[in-house]
Amino acid sequence: MIPKTLEWLGGKLRIVDQRALPDKLVFWDCESCSEAAEAIRTLAVRGAPAIGIAAAYGVLLGAKRDRGAVKDAIAELASTRPTAVNLFWALERMRETAERFADLPDRDFIAALEREARTIHEEDVRNNRKIGEFGQSFLPERGAVITHCNAGAMATGGHGTALGILRSAREHGKEMKVYADETRPLLQGARITAWELAEDGFDVTLICDSMAGALMRDRAINAVIVGADRIAANGDTANKIGTYSLAVLAAHHHVPFYAAAPYSTIDPKTPSGADIPIEERDPDEIRELPAGRRAPQNISVWNPAFDVTPAWLITGIVTERGIKKAPYNF
Ligand code: MRU
Repeated sequence: MIPKTLEWLGGKLRIVDQRALPDKLVFWDCESCSEAAEAIRTLAVRGAPAIGIAAAYGVLLGAKRDRGAVKDAIAELASTRPTAVNLFWALERMRETAERFADLPDRDFIAALEREARTIHEEDVRNNRKIGEFGQSFLPERGAVITHCNAGAMATGGHGTALGILRSAREHGKEMKVYADETRPLLQGARITAWELAEDGFDVTLICDSMAGALMRDRAINAVIVGADRIAANGDTANKIGTYSLAVLAAHHHVPFYAAAPYSTIDPKTPSGADIPIEERDPDEIRELPAGRRAPQNISVWNPAFDVTPAWLITGIVTERGIKKAPYNF
């Protein structure tokens, strides 16, 4: 069973601390705006829609402590992660709500902010279900997909975007095998997607990111489905590093490539992908591997050690007898 990714409980924001997955299920009850900001910054809560929801509750936590500090709370939360536009979208909704109800007494003012944060949360789950319904229609009765990072229940208010499509497909009786990229450097695919799908009884197989090309060539893949952190006005889409490589591979192998995201991820003010701010993180995230188990214990794995690059993709083979070019005549 997948726990609730986020929950407003007893006046606190309860999140699943995703840094501990899949080893342990740890909950973090954030009691202040700064704690919510810390949870977002450290990827305890992650995934564009979940970041937006956590930020909305973060503003509420800030206002509960000091209703005069809403502006500061918004600024603190806005500084956590730059790419997922859902963060700024949710903060703007909370700012507008605070402004609209500024004249209300404390209790009613806080109640209005709580209503807005809950609405943002509930809308996201409803939108994911709609995305799931639309998305499942392009999947066959039986097949296989590749996904990258985690765009599932753990990255959203629930159900998920990319993984929501798979959940909806299953509700329609479809049987989809899922290949999950491990997603270096922080292994959201191995630690979170593989765990989330296995917990929900999906047929999921874990691969290293570098295996996706060989997989597309050697096995029947019906689609690549990923989430998004920000979609520019022209459709350029930012998502977890490695998504672009996967899209190139999909185009090469004539595999349909879909990004699944709610409108809160679309940023009409950003004209193209070149204008999307791309977060750069701590170099140690690459120098070191995350501690603890990096995937669920008994998860199915495809682990070929080598793959074959066809001659037509090779410009030349440099040998001690010179550079050989196709057609080869060794
Ligand atoms: O760094 P993360 O784990 O927050 O990155 C998450 C992703 O790239 C997701 O695919 C994206 O936010 C969509 S979540 C529905």
